[in-house]
Amino acid sequence: MKLMILGGKGQLGRDCTKVLNETHDVMSVDLDELDITDVSEVEAVAENFRADVIINCAAFTRVDDCETEQDLACKVNIEGPGNLAVAAQNQGAQLIHISTDYVFDGSKRVPDAYTEKDDPNPISYYGVTKLAAEKAIRRITDNHIILRTAWLYGIRGQNFLKTMLRLAMNDPKREIKVVSDQFGSPTWSYRLAQQIAKLIKSGGQGTYHATSEGYCTWYELATDFLDKMDVPHSFVPCTTEEYPTPATRPMNSILENQRLKELGLNLMEDWKTDLAEFVHRFRDRLINEVREGQT
Ligand SMILES: NC(=O)c1ccc[n+]([C@@H]2O[C@H](COP(=O)([O-])OP(=O)(O)OC[C@H]3O[C@@H](n4cnc5c(N)ncnc54)[C@H](OP(=O)(O)O)[C@@H]3O)[C@@H](O)[C@H]2O)c1
Repeated sequence: MKLMILGGKGQLGRDCTKVLNETHDVMSVDLDELDITDVSEVEAVAENFRADVIINCAAFTRVDDCETEQDLACKVNIEGPGNLAVAAQNQGAQLIHISTDYVFDGSKRVPDAYTEKDDPNPISYYGVTKLAAEKAIRRITDNHIILRTAWLYGIRGQNFLKTMLRLAMNDPKREIKVVSDQFGSPTWSYRLAQQIAKLIKSGGQGTYHATSEGYCTWYELATDFLDKMDVPHSFVPCTTEEYPTPATRPMNSILENQRLKELGLNLMEDWKTDLAEFVHRFRDRLINEVREGQT
């Protein structure tokens, strides 16, 4: 099949490009080659390449900055996916769009998880834009997959784990407060790319949740990661109140991959298993990135 990946140099975009290239004819582009907010550019590239599936990994993902840069957040996170949905519809292609746990308000009691049947109610501007994109896509084309994921990490790009590693390596004795009352499922972008490949193969349609199995807090994630990396740290648990951020985050971000499971398609692993595999594969590279000042 011919696949077009947008946001191809991002964390998930790079893993999707790598995984899907093995079995498909992939064109992967990022902002420097194709701005998804430019409707005529999107139409021209889509018409030229004639993809069977368009995969949108592009987004304005800096959740706090979305609060202050609302116009840009709207353009990238709502108008961009809308342009891709129209292009997909015009070309007879399927659109796979990545959405987020932040469409939910997090008011469920832990460990109750959000399923695809739960009503979204975003509490941050980022969440508002991502939900608006979901609605726009559903309006424009039936031939779509909306895949909600959460707490992504991968080897490429920046993420929470890399930040925690840099802070610990720079000064192992410095106490770093890490939030211990928000719950979610850390998800490896490589595993998610494999899940996307499986959905494409099985001809999936509609809205799916796709996160790792199990859940933890940011504090548990940071300490488990650094322990697995065998890097000393001085993380201290703190509450959300003690660590205010411009954007409000859901206290409970746990998603249940209910539809994937019902259809026998769920290949997401337990978060600790995937984190161990991630560290096993990339420990040296992660350490070197910090030493060379890339993280
Ligand atoms: N990261 C998470 O924890 C998380 C959690 C839940 C859901 N998601 C969703 O998962 C998807 C992938 O996230 P990610 O972590 O891989 O994000 P990422 O690393 O920030 O990658 C996003 C990519 O999109 C590009 N981009 C930004 N504006 C664009 C535009 N106008 N046109 C084309 N490309 C543009 C970015 O380029 P620049 O870097 O040059 O701006 C970047 O390469 C997103 O839809 C995100 O909302 C992420």
